[in-house]
Amino acid sequence: MTNADFEKIVDTTNEWIISRTGIKERRICDEDMTGGDMAAEACRRALENSGTSPEEIDLLIIGTVTPDYRCPSEAVIVQEKVGLINAVAFDIVAACTGFINGLSLANSLIQSGQYKKALIVGSEKLSSITNYKDRGTCILFGDAAGAVVIGPDSNGNGVISTFMKSDGRLAKLLWQEVGGTRNPYTPENVNNGKDKLYMAGSDVFKVAVREMCNASLKVLEDAGLTADDLTLVVPHQANIRIIDALTKRLKVDKSKVYMNIEKYGNTSAASVPLALDQANHEGRLKPGDYVLMVAFGGGLIWGAALVRW
Ligand code: ACO
Repeated sequence: MTNADFEKIVDTTNEWIISRTGIKERRICDEDMTGGDMAAEACRRALENSGTSPEEIDLLIIGTVTPDYRCPSEAVIVQEKVGLINAVAFDIVAACTGFINGLSLANSLIQSGQYKKALIVGSEKLSSITNYKDRGTCILFGDAAGAVVIGPDSNGNGVISTFMKSDGRLAKLLWQEVGGTRNPYTPENVNNGKDKLYMAGSDVFKVAVREMCNASLKVLEDAGLTADDLTLVVPHQANIRIIDALTKRLKVDKSKVYMNIEKYGNTSAASVPLALDQANHEGRLKPGDYVLMVAFGGGLIWGAALVRW
């Protein structure tokens, strides 16, 4: 969907959307395609790119707030589609931070020796919970999935530090009020838009800038590194102004900050792995490079991961 498409359905302009968000287009998947379908495809490609067979994976974690079913998890659906017969599979509900939380957890489980090879996925069909009557949110979101494979490494590569934090007092700044057991779907509340995502944009914005910066500095400090050591920053693609503010506060050169928001918009948990994969395919990453990933989302929840490529 382009900004011109939104000009036809809500009171907005291409100029407003670009100047306030940096977004020009988003990808919306077909009605009969689900987050699980996209996640499975992302898993297959990650397995292929890493030279890993489905049987080698013993852990699958999917970050999503738009699963195919409420029960069972998205992860077991994808496990079956991809043939991960030796894995345990489960979901993480952490909105845009789901991938970072999954990566952090998988890393700990691998370091403990309990698991050997993990697939971590961020996948969202956000179009299914986007209110296309709300100009403040609908212009932001897109659909996508991304995946990575990680395993043990004795050369100091891989995930070297992570940080996760949330603040439930701010839960209602970004939430989907209807659809759970507290407020089940009824004809009335499906028609009033409360079954879709609501966001108090400017309040979320301020916390996002502050906490993405704090999380980034924390993982750098824990690793004994500074922002100068980074080759690439892969931030959650929520808003170009959030990314610019983060870039300034971290004092990293803009050329080191990866952005694809223009083409995909905010794809929640899929945002970071999608951008990471693109950066990798564009040849932006070499062995030994330090890559910082940082995300922020509904919860409110935030986190960062520092990786030696
Ligand atoms: N077109 C034109 N005008 C608009 C639009 C639009 N699409 N949307 C809002 N406006 C108007 C508002 O109505 C308001 O008008 P008013 O002053 O007459 O009341 C004005 O623009 C300013 O509105 P704000 O909400 O203050 O605009 P802001 O500059 O904050 O931008 C935005 C809104 C883009 C949503 C921004 O706040 C943002 O990106 N927030 C953070 C998003 C984020 O990081 N989310 C976390 C992850 S998402 C997840 O977890 C799923």
